[in-house]
Formats: sequence, C-alpha cells, structure tokens
Amino acid sequence: MTKLRIFMGTAALVCAIVMVGSVQRAVAAGDEVSASDQYMVYCAKCHGPSGHGDGANASTLKTRPRNFADCATMKRISDDTMFKAIKDGGTAVNLPGDMPPWGQAFEDSEIKGLVTYVRTFCK
Ligand code: HEC
Repeated sequence: MTKLRIFMGTAALVCAIVMVGSVQRAVAAGDEVSASDQYMVYCAKCHGPSGHGDGANASTLKTRPRNFADCATMKRISDDTMFKAIKDGGTAVNLPGDMPPWGQAFEDSEIKGLVTYVRTFCK
C-alpha cells in the first residue's frame, strides 16, 4: 500500500513537471508565432510574406520596400534603426513616409519582436 502511494505520488510529480515544461514551451513558441502573425497581418502586404519587398501593395508605393532577405544590406542596418522605423515610421530614419508608424499599434516589446522576426529573413 505505502509503495503504491509513493509510486502514485512520484507519478503525479513527474506529470506536473512535464506539464509545467510544456506550458513554458507553449508560451515561448507563442511569442514567436505572434511576431510572425503580426508580420503576416500588418507588414507582409508591403514587405512580402518572405520579406522580399514584393507584397501585394508594394507596386502602389512610391518606394519599393527593400529586400529583408539580402543579408549584405541588412547587416548595415542596426536594430535601433529598424526599431525606430517601425515605431515612428520611415521619416524618423530618413526613409520614405510610405513606411507607416506603428507606435500606436504595438508595444515596444512587440516592436522588438518584429525586428527579430525581420532579421530571420536573412539566412
Ligand atoms: C504601406 C506599406 C508598408 C507597410 C504596411 C509596412 N511597411 Fe515597412 N517599409 C515600407 C517602405 C516603403 C519602407 C522604406 C523602404 C525600405 O527601407 O524598405 C519600409 C521600411 C521598413 C523598415 C526599415 C528598413 C530599413 O531600411 O531601415 C523596417 C524594419 C520595416 N519597414 C518593417 C516593417 C514592419 C515590421 C511592418 C509591419 C508592422 C511594416 N514595415 C509595414 C513599407 C511598408
């Protein structure tokens, strides 16, 4: 009987640890999913689903969005510049106003997530 109880206790504990582990993983994965979801909803129409600057609306813009997959170019652009461009719009970093400001739409932490996501296009 006692042995069974110890066994059940251990099993419950192992179960709890496994569950906590998977919840943490789900939260971490959720952050990535939301940055990519946000990108797909708000940014892909201009920047393109793979960041090539070929979104559906790109041809209507005065300036074509640059190719985020071009590593040589992207290396020269700092995270700070990207952050500012997203938060305050293109004009804040001497780029065209075609890039709208998103500071009202996203928290700073979300904008950081978008910068990180934009970097994933260059592989
Ligand atoms: C209406 C079209 C449009 C939308 C929507 C848009 N952008 Fe832009 N974006 C531009 C244009 C045009 C530029 C300026 C050319 C360039 O640098 O690619 C730009 C520039 C940028 C830059 C600066 C790149 C650099 O050269 O320093 C970043 C980063 C960026 N956009 C990210 C985003 C993100 C993230 C979103 C979604 C929240 C978004 N953009 C939505 C059109 C758009």
